[in-house]
Amino acid sequence: MNKLFSAGITGTGSFLPEKVLTNHDLEKIVDTSDEWITTRTGIKSRRIADDQIASSDLATKAAEAAMEDAGIHPEEVDLIIVATATPDMAFPSTACIVQKNIGAVNAAAFDIEAACTGFLYALTMGEQFIKTGFYKNILIIGAETLSKVLNWKDRNTCILFGDGAGAVILQRTEEEGMLASYLGSDGRNSDSLTLPAGGSRMPISYKTIDEGLHCIRMEGSEVFKFAVRTMGSSALKALEKCNIALEEIDFLVPHQANSRIIEAAAKRLKLPMDKVYINLDKYGNMSAASVPVALDEAVKSNAIKKGDKVVLVAFGGGLTWGSSIIKWIK
Ligand code: COA
Repeated sequence: MNKLFSAGITGTGSFLPEKVLTNHDLEKIVDTSDEWITTRTGIKSRRIADDQIASSDLATKAAEAAMEDAGIHPEEVDLIIVATATPDMAFPSTACIVQKNIGAVNAAAFDIEAACTGFLYALTMGEQFIKTGFYKNILIIGAETLSKVLNWKDRNTCILFGDGAGAVILQRTEEEGMLASYLGSDGRNSDSLTLPAGGSRMPISYKTIDEGLHCIRMEGSEVFKFAVRTMGSSALKALEKCNIALEEIDFLVPHQANSRIIEAAAKRLKLPMDKVYINLDKYGNMSAASVPVALDEAVKSNAIKKGDKVVLVAFGGGLTWGSSIIKWIK
């Protein structure tokens, strides 16, 4: 086999809608309390996009910030991958809408759907395109407007999620920044986290709307057990692939679903919590946007420094899971 090229993240960006919905606001909508939400999840507030704002709008802003951070022009982008479970529409892809918005006239574009693991699937896919030499500059985005697919009468789900977008520029680099990745799935347990209506199995009808089937449904405790099992083990699988010991990890950027799930993962990786980035208190679970937004904030706040070995890890609907071990080379 020919020699592979090296890949690395050279820019990050994120964008959050302005409107804040606090736990106290939710107390007025469903039978819940700030105390219940805080102790069970760690979430205090989340951002909500205005009615006229779609995922591509958030994605575009995050993409522009990441391109500026990496110092590249839109015409230099070879490929745009958007990870989202809340695309603007079935087609065109959200990636094509972003391609138009930013003027990336030379880029191919497509969406990928692996629910909350979507960004790690997209990053791993981008990594393959760079390493084989097929592309040099890839824009990878996680963008969600989950507020649009929540049942605001269901206290089991509406308290958990929020809207936002994060993006990275992945480029061919001199130094290796993508050390290893691992992805997994288990479709047998897909029923525990679904959005049943609106596809070809169950097109939207008055009946599906009456029954709330066009909104997220979740078996919370099943997903919780799966997440606790998977976050640690998928990170360990990726670490094994690049032969990195637990003591060598500098920082963990996990999917932001629940602070108890994150604490379990940190424990499994023997990491103190000051080496773990948490922003779910501010934003809740933003599905595919959680990891890239957290990565952007961790880098911009200097929690991640040049040379650090960082574990990115996520789990989500599908069921899916994945992890990437990156070296911060910027
Ligand atoms: N406010 C108050 N009470 C609530 C509530 C809310 N928002 N949501 C559920 N409850 C109630 C339940 O009805 C239940 O009451 P009951 O015992 O009378 O039936 C009780 O609280 C306990 O529910 P349970 O599901 O056992 O709580 P939990 O400790 O498992 O926490 C989650 C619930 C959803 C926070 C937790 O299971 C979780 O985080 N799961 C993973 C979800 C996730 O990450 N999803 C996204 C995947 S990417």
